[in-house]
Amino acid sequence: MGHLVLGGMTNAEQTSVLITGGNKGLGFEAARRLGEHGWTIFLGSRDEGRGRAAADKLADSGANVVMVPLDVTSDDSVSEAVRLVRQHTDRLDVLINNAGAPGKVVAPADATVDDIHSVYDTNVYGPIRVTHAFLPLLRAADHPRVVMVSSGGGSFAVVTDPEQPVSKMHELAYSSSKAALNMITVRYAQALPEIKFNVATPGEVANRKFAATDMNHHTGELTVTEGTDSIVELAMIDADGPTGIFIDRLGPVAW
Ligand SMILES: NC(=O)c1ccc[n+]([C@@H]2O[C@H](COP(=O)([O-])OP(=O)(O)OC[C@H]3O[C@@H](n4cnc5c(N)ncnc54)[C@H](OP(=O)(O)O)[C@@H]3O)[C@@H](O)[C@H]2O)c1
Repeated sequence: MGHLVLGGMTNAEQTSVLITGGNKGLGFEAARRLGEHGWTIFLGSRDEGRGRAAADKLADSGANVVMVPLDVTSDDSVSEAVRLVRQHTDRLDVLINNAGAPGKVVAPADATVDDIHSVYDTNVYGPIRVTHAFLPLLRAADHPRVVMVSSGGGSFAVVTDPEQPVSKMHELAYSSSKAALNMITVRYAQALPEIKFNVATPGEVANRKFAATDMNHHTGELTVTEGTDSIVELAMIDADGPTGIFIDRLGPVAW
């Protein structure tokens, strides 16, 4: 079982998805869930060893999975990833830009461009790099979808709500990177109506809950399965579904 697509093109009936940062956390859980639906999973991982281990685990449980070495901060790595995916398929139905970096929490007064640059390279330039490179494959699909994994911390409404803990967490890099990602998603959605571009946040914004992963040292109260509900929902929207929306697992989130 598994590896059914290796060496061949994907079946035209089979939905394909590329997930960045698919080796662990929410990306891995999204890969597991969509694999259970019979989708072909292109599992992106910047570290080949970690990616291989994750892909083998999914293949062992019967998923069609291809590990794709993919560092979203590298143009060369992204080009190589396109080349590899093209060896298996001539179209990509879904792209999930999930890879993300939290950065260090540095107080705004102390934050330098250096502190911020690497976070933007991953969370802002990363999704642009990957989306731009995969547009031709996405455009070849019947009803392509792009899911951007953002955060409640990227919402002006949430960050300016004194009831939200994030309003008291003083930092620049992560929240502003996700705010930029939100705007970038809206702008893609407006310009490319033939592709659905939507934003998912893994938490429950109204309940101030997030999902336990390495990124938050497993302090989240939600499981990774709950954390991926919004991601999976947006990956699976049909041809007359929405574009340019921002949701968590409970429903719409204010920008
Ligand atoms: N957990 C939550 O409740 C929560 C809340 C809001 C937003 N998010 C967002 O959800 C997404 C997934 O995070 P997570 O909670 O699942 O955290 P995680 O377990 O730390 O996973 C992060 C993933 O991103 C990958 N990554 C980081 N930099 C990369 C790069 N340059 N190229 C490719 N992959 C890279 C990591 O790869 P390595 O293993 O190689 O480091 C890992 O696979 C992120 O965008 C995060 O901001 C999560």
